[in-house]
Amino acid sequence: MRINSPQMNIIYKACNKASKSLIRDFGEIEKLQVSTKGPGDFVSTADKKSEKIIIEELLKAHPDYGILSEEAGQINKENQNNKWIIDPIDGTTNFLNGIPQFAISIAYEEKGEVVSGIIFDPIKNEMFFAEKGSGAYLNNSRIRVSNKKKLKESILVTGGPRFSSKKRAEIFEEYIKISNIVDAPIRKFGSAALDIANVACGRFDGYWQWELNYWDIAAGLIILKEAGGFVDLPGNEEKTSFKKNIIATNSKIHEELKASLLKKNIE
Ligand code: IPD
Ligand code: CA
Ligand code: CA
Repeated sequence: MRINSPQMNIIYKACNKASKSLIRDFGEIEKLQVSTKGPGDFVSTADKKSEKIIIEELLKAHPDYGILSEEAGQINKENQNNKWIIDPIDGTTNFLNGIPQFAISIAYEEKGEVVSGIIFDPIKNEMFFAEKGSGAYLNNSRIRVSNKKKLKESILVTGGPRFSSKKRAEIFEEYIKISNIVDAPIRKFGSAALDIANVACGRFDGYWQWELNYWDIAAGLIILKEAGGFVDLPGNEEKTSFKKNIIATNSKIHEELKASLLKKNIE
């Protein structure tokens, strides 16, 4: 793996260490599924364990850097110039059910801009990473977004909505609207971080999802940009909010997907 900056080196080490614990715990899931207690508590422990390993590694390297992490919240909140953004397991429902589609996602933000990031799928041993100005990689190979130009021919992926979402009906309507445009059925894989990474390496042409959190997508932002893709965060006027909507594409289908999504049905 090509690593340029010290920050990337730190993220890489933290990610690798946490992934060992996740792989071990994922191996236990099958056994737990048949137990009466079920794997729920075990997964929340696995999540916290992975997070603890990552945070310890990051703080060891830079005790003063800010951290935003899904379970632990904010650490060193006063440092807004140097900040790590962590999702210790993205794709928890998959993990919980023994489905091998989840990842660790860690980003490094400098003065409010994500400048490096890693998304690591420990089961497939796929590490997506990028640094500002240095391109995006999957393991040892440079990655690029796809060349698809027509929305109709595109492979799209999305996620959600949560059961509790107030926009549930609207999101389903949108899903039908876009389904009526594209030839191939829209995919749903249950890990926002991997969905973006898979757009970055050209497997998908576009991805959108509403009501995510910043840690789901932070590392994906730089990986996709460095792979030649384009990201929009519609309706995120309030910069300080952790809630994010995202449209992430190979850039060529971007305007068409965005216009189709944001077009209101006038009847
Ligand atoms: C979830 C995944 C999923 C998305 C959810 C997220 P988690 O993250 O990214 O794909 O649909 O909105 O919350 O809870 O597994 O870290
Ligand atoms: Ca997540
Ligand atoms: Ca998570």
